[in-house]
Amino acid sequence: MKKRWYLLIVFLISISSLLMANSVAQKVSPPVASVPSGTYDTTQRVSLFSETEGATIYYTIDGSDPLTSSTRQKVSSRGVQIQTTCVLKAVAVKEGMEPSDIVSYKYFIKVAEPTPNPSPGEWKELPKEIILSSTTPGAVIYYTTDGSLPTRQSIKYTGPIKLEKGKTNTIKAIAVKEDGSPDSNVVMFVYVENPNLILLTDTLRPDANEIYVINKVISEMTLDEKVRMVWGAATSQLGAAGNTYAIPRLGITSMELADGPAGLRLRGHEATAWPNPMMLASTWNTEILEKVGAAIADEAKFYGIDIMLGPGMNIHRDPLGGRVFEYYSEDPYVTGKMAAAWINGLQDNGVGATMKHYAANNSENNRMNINVIVSERALREIYLTGFEIATKESNPWAAMSAYNKINGTFGFEHEYLSKMLRDVFGFKGLIMSDWGGYHNPISFKNGFDLNEPGGAGSDNLKNAINNGIITEKDLDRAISNILNVVIKTETFKNQIYDKSEFAANQKIPSSIAAIHADISKEAALEGIVLLKNDETLPLQNVSTVALIGELAYKSELPSFWGSPAKGLYYEGGGSAAVVVDPEEVVTLQEAFSSGGLNVLTQTEKGEYLKEGMGKNDAIYVAKNSDVGIILIGRPGTEGRDNTPESMKLTAEEFALIRNVSEAYHSLGKKVIVLLNVAHPIETDDWDDYVDSILYIGLPGTYGASAVTDILLGNVNPSGKLVDTWPIKYEYAPTYGNMPEPNQSEITYTEDIYVGYRYYDMNPQYVKYPFGYGLSYTEFKYESIVLDKKTFNLTNEDETIVVKVKVKNTGQVPGKEVVQLYVRADDSTAERPYKELKGFAKTKLLNPGETEVITFTLDKRSFAYFDEVVHDWIVEPGVYTIIVGGTSENEVLQLTGLSEKVLATR
Ligand code: BGC
Repeated sequence: MKKRWYLLIVFLISISSLLMANSVAQKVSPPVASVPSGTYDTTQRVSLFSETEGATIYYTIDGSDPLTSSTRQKVSSRGVQIQTTCVLKAVAVKEGMEPSDIVSYKYFIKVAEPTPNPSPGEWKELPKEIILSSTTPGAVIYYTTDGSLPTRQSIKYTGPIKLEKGKTNTIKAIAVKEDGSPDSNVVMFVYVENPNLILLTDTLRPDANEIYVINKVISEMTLDEKVRMVWGAATSQLGAAGNTYAIPRLGITSMELADGPAGLRLRGHEATAWPNPMMLASTWNTEILEKVGAAIADEAKFYGIDIMLGPGMNIHRDPLGGRVFEYYSEDPYVTGKMAAAWINGLQDNGVGATMKHYAANNSENNRMNINVIVSERALREIYLTGFEIATKESNPWAAMSAYNKINGTFGFEHEYLSKMLRDVFGFKGLIMSDWGGYHNPISFKNGFDLNEPGGAGSDNLKNAINNGIITEKDLDRAISNILNVVIKTETFKNQIYDKSEFAANQKIPSSIAAIHADISKEAALEGIVLLKNDETLPLQNVSTVALIGELAYKSELPSFWGSPAKGLYYEGGGSAAVVVDPEEVVTLQEAFSSGGLNVLTQTEKGEYLKEGMGKNDAIYVAKNSDVGIILIGRPGTEGRDNTPESMKLTAEEFALIRNVSEAYHSLGKKVIVLLNVAHPIETDDWDDYVDSILYIGLPGTYGASAVTDILLGNVNPSGKLVDTWPIKYEYAPTYGNMPEPNQSEITYTEDIYVGYRYYDMNPQYVKYPFGYGLSYTEFKYESIVLDKKTFNLTNEDETIVVKVKVKNTGQVPGKEVVQLYVRADDSTAERPYKELKGFAKTKLLNPGETEVITFTLDKRSFAYFDEVVHDWIVEPGVYTIIVGGTSENEVLQLTGLSEKVLATR
């Protein structure tokens, strides 16, 4: 017995000493820096690695202990930026292990040269004083003004240097530090007064010849200034996505460029989140788009922004494209018209628009590299038409090229695309890159103007000029396009070089915010689409509603790249994410209560009504409310496409819909589903369970109030879908032909058969057709009248005027979306069954009231793009003009109207 005890004790002692020995040995391995100690001419980015997997590395550069110091910082994946001479001390730690030894690296960094503000060169009138600075912290500057070399014995810089009028002023300067850092290079700045200098501000004179002035100003620029003009400055004071370089000596102000299509996005500044563009398009009301554009211009001007990085105009080729929520429609005509209206609203109010992303940026996976193979016909008929319409109808100040390649060439260096835009469509603005999408100086030869966001690296362009890849003339051409836009901005007209006053603005003044709240809500009201309604809406005799769905009780604020939520997805993420005051976002729960409804939010046990809720809870909820409202959400953001799963309900969502519906129906009560989705979703396998379905998009800051007004019947829904919703994603023409995250090429095999152009041949796949949406009233198409029945093809300016009479034959006031399609009946070329060539929204028609809508069709309304002659062709023959409230052919046949036209030569 004793022996056994003895053995056990010996065993335990040896185990524990083994463990102890192990834990002593378990020391994190020390960090190793990617840059060795030494003397360097420029700042260094140093990465630090430890061989111990999962170790965290801390560092200091002030000499203190990286293990304990309050100034220590964690090394991020971007490493440590060493800006000045210092000792970098680092330690690696990991929980449960002993910290590594502390390692030290000593870096001597040459002091950064002094830079002057404003810049040197010829001035019409010399600036009064010059400020010098060095980016090296703690550097001291010495200077001379008599031409001698500056040393530590020269004048010490303590404040602005006064310039002497009427003579050439030369400042030579050096920056030094007393810590062993090598002195900066000596730099020389020469300021020359030249009263004959032409300034960009000369364009402001009433009789100015803008072209002459701009060319002259360009000829006065130094090469350094030129390369910086075509290269974003990346120094926005305002939290904007980008900005351009200012040259005060030539009167050139900077332009601030801010996202985006869903509202003004500025870091640290609040703005209004509007319904997402796909939902704006569902209004089919260009007046609303114009109002939204104008309101965004007001917010932009309040914050000192000159150019908005929107509208987003790529075609919804596939319902799961990551940014479909940020773009308008599957149809190019809708896209072009919506964009033109938004741009006109914005630009008429002094802020420029940027059409983006030109072109064929229809998916997000591998967006920076993917090569899109697409036929010329599909490009012209589907992917460029929207840009063409918007260019012709709204003269946008700017366009942004797409990240992707199109038939082998990146968007920003694509000769064909820029020729189309400028020479064929008549674009007069500037073409910028998408952020970080620029790769090659050759693009400046091919019509490209501005690299954004730019920052360091513009010197590469000088090398490209020296190597003969591009010429200075190529830059002059680009600068001319840029300056043509600069002169349109308020910033230029008011010669504002310092925007700190704007930067101090944090919130839109309440008087403007209140007006914008109304417009945002109005847009949501017209964009909501009633998809199904079995005698459920508008709500009648309902005092208590149950609000069901996890999302309704979720708050994720603030969130940048993802789609933020507060009781719903009120906006998309990425560059569509507007910073809002979270207090301002109206939740469904709040909106229902303000609408006079009691809202049941919890089960008997006090749990929120959400996915995973059992049958008994569903019965409790059904008993204690008059109607069940289920919220289904799908967020949207850029950078990746949605997966096929996001188009289907999860098993939990499905069970929720089924259980809740069964419980309500057993009591003779109704269930409504709200689709708070960034993209179309499948409804076919669950819609029979529920009584009513509303598409509410990502409806903006005040969208929940709009939803409430629709539910209560205060407003009659009038939105219609701008995309076909297939029964299943598998039925989409692009199914199986969307890029995987690393895919390098994609061929648009469906060609021109995108959206309804495809589904018209396969109607059995359609759940909700393009142009579809229900109302609380009914409309009758009473007559279609054409001013002529033959279309003379020899007359280039030939038009046909179509008048359509629509009547509200129902019981409540409402608005109808009137759609006009053209079908080529006997074309020898392959053509879609029909194509949208006109649309309009009626005014609010009272019961019994009629309105006559007028459409004007021109040659292009009948044309297709021929790849042999590379031009639009209208064949002689018969065309049918079809009008109605949907694209669904069976319904059009019953309720729509049509007329034949003969095109002749
Ligand atoms: C987006 C653009 C946006 C830009 C600036 C890019 O990632 O693709 O649409 O305007 O960022 O934020």
